[in-house]
Amino acid sequence: MSQITIALTKGRILKETLPLLAAVGVEPLDDLFTSRQLIFPTSRDDVRLLVLRGVDVPTYVQFGAADIGVSGRDMLLEDPADGFYEPLDLGIARCRLMTAGIKGAARPAGRIKVATKYVNIARDYYAQRGQQVDLIKLYGAMELAPIMALADEIVDIVDTGNTLRANGLEAREQITEISSRLIVNKASLKTKHAAVQALIDGIAAALPNATEG
Ligand code: PRP
Repeated sequence: MSQITIALTKGRILKETLPLLAAVGVEPLDDLFTSRQLIFPTSRDDVRLLVLRGVDVPTYVQFGAADIGVSGRDMLLEDPADGFYEPLDLGIARCRLMTAGIKGAARPAGRIKVATKYVNIARDYYAQRGQQVDLIKLYGAMELAPIMALADEIVDIVDTGNTLRANGLEAREQITEISSRLIVNKASLKTKHAAVQALIDGIAAALPNATEG
């Protein structure tokens, strides 16, 4: 029996991922939200879970340290990597990647300062539009940057828009739509084919709006 390791991330994705795993008989034996553990056994002897930072999930799957992962499309776009397939759009944790700035303020003419943790996506986006930018890499609380005049604009995830509103900002342009993807290590799909494929198919069958490809 091959052991399958699935890499997950805390936060908004996790809550929506657990019912999909339950549909293939995978239920963590401990509470993923409160435990300090990093590796979790499950109700299936052949499946264990890792709980990582979102940005690290593709890395674990790329190098085969995990066979399967659940990753936001934002992470996959920001750091494209080889070594895994992306067989399923899970349609969960849906949100939009947007530019935003101070409510009512016009974007200054000429070169602008943009704060984001998505520097690669932002670089491509503004370059396509012929907008010159100085990119400022941040790791969180992007909304603060325009308020403190660190940047003219931010590029960030928008879900309900509450965070922008609460900070006097408004969304400007949509860069792309985001949802979570199932990613699968290429070698695992060969060496553990039956077990990995069964998990992909089982999860796909549990999705209301699945797109398999
Ligand atoms: C994201 C994002 C915004 C917020 C948007 O952060 O960076 O701050 O969610 O959601 P809203 O439109 O519903 O207010 P998240 O909570 O995922 O934490 P993070 O900063 O760790 O990414």
